[in-house]
Amino acid sequence: MNVLVAGGAGYIGSHAVKQLLDAGHRVVVVDNLYRGHRPAVDPRAAFHQLDIADTEALTQAFFTHAIDAVMQFAALTYVGESVAEPLSYYYNNTAGTISLLRAMKAAGVNRIVFSSTAAVYGEPERTPIVETIRQEPVNPYGWSKWCVERVLRDYVAANRDFSFVALRYFNVAGAAADGSLGEDHDPETHLIPALLLTALGKRERATVFGADYPTPDGTCIRDYIHVEDLCNAHISAMNALQPGDARCYNLGIGHGYSVREVIDAAKRVTGVDFPVEYGPRRAGDPAVLYASAQKAMSELGWSPRYTDLDGIVATAWNWFRRHPNGYGESD
Ligand SMILES: NC(=O)c1ccc[n+]([C@@H]2O[C@H](COP(=O)([O-])OP(=O)(O)OC[C@H]3O[C@@H](n4cnc5c(N)ncnc54)[C@H](O)[C@@H]3O)[C@@H](O)[C@H]2O)c1
Repeated sequence: MNVLVAGGAGYIGSHAVKQLLDAGHRVVVVDNLYRGHRPAVDPRAAFHQLDIADTEALTQAFFTHAIDAVMQFAALTYVGESVAEPLSYYYNNTAGTISLLRAMKAAGVNRIVFSSTAAVYGEPERTPIVETIRQEPVNPYGWSKWCVERVLRDYVAANRDFSFVALRYFNVAGAAADGSLGEDHDPETHLIPALLLTALGKRERATVFGADYPTPDGTCIRDYIHVEDLCNAHISAMNALQPGDARCYNLGIGHGYSVREVIDAAKRVTGVDFPVEYGPRRAGDPAVLYASAQKAMSELGWSPRYTDLDGIVATAWNWFRRHPNGYGESD
């Protein structure tokens, strides 16, 4: 298939591009490089530096490359920033995706895989989280994604040739097993990279936000899914789509690890006993979040290969050791 990957210069998108190419698809990346990295884009892919708000340029790209399907990763992704700048989040994430859909419509492209998030559940009423529980995000980032899911649902109801799958990711972690791609966010707020950057000596200490949660060791519990497993699920979901489909799946491993367990894993994998400080809770962090991934497993025939924390952390460590300055420095 000819697949257009929006946000393909970012962390997850760049891994998806590589996996699509390895699976024999042709790939066109569009990214405005606001937070992505040109060197993260596999040289086998075509690249257009453009914003998804530019409907006309996107339409042109769809025609030029005879696109069959879209994977939409392009978004702003910081919860705190979304609280401070909600308009940017709704404009970029929600209106941006509508622009992409309008370009798809103009070019007759009818299949999209959309990056949604566990943030659509807000404070979940129970765990493991199944797709049907109440969705009530607690920040503009989560709402900006929830709105897109709503738009997609309404659009497929009006256009039965169209189909979509919204994939609600839990905490995405790890790096390409061959060490060629990894996580390079600025600022880096994700737990595993933050710990590994501390192990490398690039940060003085790691900070844990809250050790008084009602969990066995007092720290928050999250579900960590390896980025390559996540991207495999995208390809399975894209291949499964039939006209008129409106699908939605959680992507996690179905098991939670506490922040303390992740710190222990990072210390084991790196062999470095880096300093950790315990601070107050952050507003809006639920104690426990982990997925039921049963629906994706049974309907897509997908299952994660990485279910053990040390294995996930080891791939990330391989990346950070070889690229301590991310894409800014080669091996
Ligand atoms: N990383 C996670 O744990 C996680 C969890 C849940 C959901 N997600 C979602 O997955 C997707 C990818 O996340 P990521 O961690 O790879 O983020 P990222 O910031 O590394 O990648 C996003 C990419 O999109 C590009 N982009 C942003 N706005 C754009 C626009 N208007 N036009 C063109 N390009 C644009 C950025 O330049 C960047 O390359 C996002 O949609 C995010 O909301 C990520």
